[in-house]
Amino acid sequence: MTWTIAFSLLVALPLAVAIPPPDFGFPEAPNHTELSVTYQANGNSFVVAEADLFGVDIPAKEPTVAVETASYESIATYNGSYVLLMVDPDARYPSSPNLRFILHWLQTDMTVAAQSPDGTSQLVNSSAPRVPHLGPSPPTDSAAHRYIIYAFFQHANFTFPQNFEDFNATSRTNFNLPSFLDESKLGQTPAAAMYYFASNQTQVPQDFTATAGGTYPGGNGGMITAGPGPNITSSTAPAAPSTSASTTSSSVTSTSASDSGTSASGSASQTASETGSTTRSAASASDTSDAVKLLVGSGGLVAGLISLWNLV
Ligand SMILES: *[C@@H]1O[C@H](CO)[C@@H](O)[C@H](O)[C@H]1NC(C)=O
Ligand SMILES: *[C@@H]1O[C@H](CO)[C@@H](O)[C@H](O)[C@H]1NC(C)=O
Ligand SMILES: *[C@@H]1O[C@H](CO)[C@@H](O)[C@H](O)[C@H]1NC(C)=O
Ligand SMILES: *[C@@H]1O[C@H](CO)[C@@H](O)[C@H](O)[C@H]1NC(C)=O
Ligand SMILES: *[C@@H]1O[C@H](CO)[C@@H](O)[C@H](O)[C@H]1NC(C)=O
Ligand SMILES: *[C@@H]1O[C@H](CO)[C@@H](O)[C@H](O)[C@H]1NC(C)=O
Ligand SMILES: *[C@@H]1O[C@H](CO)[C@@H](O)[C@H](O)[C@H]1NC(C)=O
Repeated sequence: MTWTIAFSLLVALPLAVAIPPPDFGFPEAPNHTELSVTYQANGNSFVVAEADLFGVDIPAKEPTVAVETASYESIATYNGSYVLLMVDPDARYPSSPNLRFILHWLQTDMTVAAQSPDGTSQLVNSSAPRVPHLGPSPPTDSAAHRYIIYAFFQHANFTFPQNFEDFNATSRTNFNLPSFLDESKLGQTPAAAMYYFASNQTQVPQDFTATAGGTYPGGNGGMITAGPGPNITSSTAPAAPSTSASTTSSSVTSTSASDSGTSASGSASQTASETGSTTRSAASASDTSDAVKLLVGSGGLVAGLISLWNLV
């Protein structure tokens, strides 16, 4: 039965491209294998739809994640555990992502719970997170950042790569995702993925178009819009794996303020459908990188201590 459903779903999606879209240039889950991501707010839950745009009132607490067991054969036939990763490729600005990637969450040994009536199976951690979840907090002068949540098949021989031991709650920047996937032998192909945008812009950008009933999510404190995220140029997107494996040495250290934005007011809503579009262009061109230079410069530690939580 599962196989039948999976087959018909795949057939029903002739444009089943990867997720996140290939033009982003980041690791892609093939066949549009979605990771189900659900946030809780005020007793309501909302499921993230691909390319949703949120304000920063998106809950700071980690979402529940689930694999869509009934929908994908590759998921249904896999019995092992998963490595979960959440990254922001757009720090400090999408136009100059000098801190790429910010590691928002890293959890190994996620086991698969029994399938729910909705056809998904929750991923449950059996150990403490390697790097605890940190909610979105892009700078107020930045275009929306992308947040990508990946589940990778955790093969039986998985060991945590030594070069990445130093990433933790207070050290999250310049996470070299491609190198991590190489060194952990997880491979560059996720089992499933989901992504959304979040913005803390205090001014409504000129290219924002509210959909019916929607409001701008960054400047007005709202938690979610009914509209899709902004267009992103692929030129800002390519993953830039460094040739060096020692990505951890230059990490900016900073205090974590992962839960400082605890208010999750605003009504929960959910965009009903995925955006079919994978072509995104014209991100804000007005970003500056001065603050980044402040951060990564030799005297940046103090600035980092103060401000990391407000730039990712
Ligand atoms: C993607 O789907 C095709 C059939 O639609 C299948 O042959 C292929 O194995 C799938 N790939 C993965 C990685 O699931
Ligand atoms: C998964 O587990 C079931 C029962 O435990 C077994 O029948 C099946 O062969 C396993 N599949 C894989 C891919 O290991
Ligand atoms: C699972 O992760 C949560 C936070 O993400 C943590 O509070 C909990 O202790 C972890 N569970 C185990 C068994 O370590
Ligand atoms: C968003 O920006 C405001 C300043 O306009 C700041 O007070 C708030 O902490 C920011 N929120 C997050 C989650 O970064
Ligand atoms: C795991 O290690 C064993 C023994 O070294 C090897 O035979 C097997 O192919 C490895 N499996 C994977 C998935 O790498
Ligand atoms: C995080 O790792 C850094 C080194 O990268 C270390 O200095 C710091 O003490 C660690 N913090 C925690 C909370 O483990
Ligand atoms: C995003 O790109 C699509 C396709 O190129 C275009 O139709 C749409 O108007 C763009 N949206 C914005 C906000 O620029």
